[in-house]
Amino acid sequence: MKTVKGFARALNDTGKYQYKAPEFVADFVIIGAGVVGLAIAQRLTQKFPRKTTLLLERHRKAGEETSSRNSEVIHSGLYYPSDSLKTRLCLRGRDLLYERCSTYNIPHLRTGKLVVAKHDQRPYIEKLHTKSLKLQWPPRSPPSSSDDFVLSTELLSGEQAKAMEPNLSDHIVAALWCPQTGIIDSHSLMESLEKDILDSEGGELVYSTRVVRLDPYPRSSRTIGTPDVDAQEEGWVVQAVTGDGQEDAMLARTLINASGLSSTLILNALLRKEDRIPMYYARGSYATYHGPGVSNVSHLIYPCPETGPSVHAFQSLGTHLTLDLQGKVRFGPDLQWISPPSGGLHSPSEEDVDFWNKELVPDESRLPQMHRAVVGYLPGVTLEGLSPDYVGLRPKLVPPNGGFQDFVFRTDYPTPGNQTCPMISLLGIESPGLTCSLSIAEHVIEDLLESKVSM
Ligand SMILES: Cc1cc2nc3c(=O)[nH]c(=O)nc-3n(C[C@H](O)[C@H](O)[C@H](O)COP(=O)(O)OP(=O)(O)OC[C@H]3O[C@@H](n4cnc5c(N)ncnc54)[C@H](O)[C@@H]3O)c2cc1C
Ligand SMILES: *[C@@H]1O[C@H](CO)[C@@H](O)[C@H](O)[C@H]1NC(C)=O
Ligand SMILES: *[C@@H]1O[C@H](CO)[C@@H](O)[C@H](O)[C@H]1NC(C)=O
Ligand SMILES: *[C@@H]1O[C@H](CO)[C@@H](O)[C@H](O)[C@H]1NC(C)=O
Ligand SMILES: *[C@@H]1O[C@H](CO)[C@@H](O)[C@H](O)[C@H]1NC(C)=O
Repeated sequence: MKTVKGFARALNDTGKYQYKAPEFVADFVIIGAGVVGLAIAQRLTQKFPRKTTLLLERHRKAGEETSSRNSEVIHSGLYYPSDSLKTRLCLRGRDLLYERCSTYNIPHLRTGKLVVAKHDQRPYIEKLHTKSLKLQWPPRSPPSSSDDFVLSTELLSGEQAKAMEPNLSDHIVAALWCPQTGIIDSHSLMESLEKDILDSEGGELVYSTRVVRLDPYPRSSRTIGTPDVDAQEEGWVVQAVTGDGQEDAMLARTLINASGLSSTLILNALLRKEDRIPMYYARGSYATYHGPGVSNVSHLIYPCPETGPSVHAFQSLGTHLTLDLQGKVRFGPDLQWISPPSGGLHSPSEEDVDFWNKELVPDESRLPQMHRAVVGYLPGVTLEGLSPDYVGLRPKLVPPNGGFQDFVFRTDYPTPGNQTCPMISLLGIESPGLTCSLSIAEHVIEDLLESKVSM
């Protein structure tokens, strides 16, 4: 772990927001009310009811960014390297999510999923099948009987797959059946987390509030006037602007940054050039479908991820068929790389902030290519039946062809060398981040924080 050097100076360089002394202290401050920030805040309020937990969100409500622009699939945990956080947190998160769905009546459906393979793709699903049989229960899962598989999958023949989905192409010769995959109403999930926070003793949701500046507040360098905060305090000064333009500063004893797509822009402005974290963005478009070739479809259908000289399997799972809870058919997401206007992935400029907003408008131009991808497994689907639906953006830590990249949890401290008052930055929380939301919260609190926060 590296500590952030030259923070304050870099901030003064950007100059837009002057340093403000903190006016009050909070035990936990979380930036970003996407599904991940909500899950972390919810867990903190349940676990530490007497501590103050503040969740800051720049939009007027929760989940306005990536958390409402995804496939709403509860992933089974099939695709990532066995020893990765993505696998571990997905297996655990999937179980926690199904449990929460039944306890809180969150609309969801265990549809199951078929990964369908053409002749030359058979080895790929056979490998996935073998891998799934060897996966171990992640830590903190309840003990299960030994003949229970953490991820059950079944290899099917082309005929068996077609018996389940009659409109599959004759070129599909095999399929992998994953009964644990499902779909969820992510808005209801977020509402249920929000309600827990609102009902808690020490939790507060603060909307229309954008964090604009961060400064470490080490105990040793009390050079700035801080009349309202005890000189013994340590942490992070979080400066925010509210909807009416008012600037507020607070001291966070522990800071958690779950700001999604924005998670590196300000950070990089603070870091020395050699320490900067590159961020890449991959656009994913969805299309609704009304037309022939999807008769009575009732399972999610995924092609094998495309691999080849220009595409890597970890970039995207391929343009797949998803269903919403009303049974409506949707295809997507495809994959299209975009970059900030300055092209500066390491050295963001002012114009880069939220550059991706204009990319959120879906357009017709993606449809022919999506159609070509879909007829590979559902040949009856017509181009005319597809209409642009919405667009989501993947916050990527690796460039095209960059290979597998795990979730990153980075920890910094206000006083170099002293592991108190951590700031945890969540980076690259792309798919399966929705599935992992509850297990990410568990990981952040039980694995990363508990030893470092005085409880
Ligand atoms: C195309 C696509 C499909 C996907 N499909 C699936 C799927 O089927 N299943 C699955 O499990 N996962 C899926 N994912 C992944 C999942 O959607 C994300 O991992 C998850 O939503 C990330 O949540 P988050 O809370 O980290 O980020 P976000 O939802 O982006 O939340 C971050 C929040 O921080 C706020 N914020 C940012 N900056 C500031 C600031 N300065 N001050 C205050 N607030 C700030 C933002 O407004 C935002 O609300 C998909 C992702 C994409 C892009
Ligand atoms: C944390 O949050 C701010 C505001 O969203 C963001 O711009 C910054 O880069 C994030 N990361 C760190 C480590 O400060
Ligand atoms: C889809 O399957 C149904 C049911 O078997 C069949 O009636 C229909 O003709 C098929 N459509 C296409 C386009 O294959
Ligand atoms: C779709 O399902 C319904 C009810 O299950 C059935 O009556 C109908 O024949 C099916 N249609 C096709 C094309 O298979
Ligand atoms: C680290 O900080 C704690 C409390 O803030 C303090 O008690 C301790 O002495 C510090 N340790 C070091 C090595 O500076």
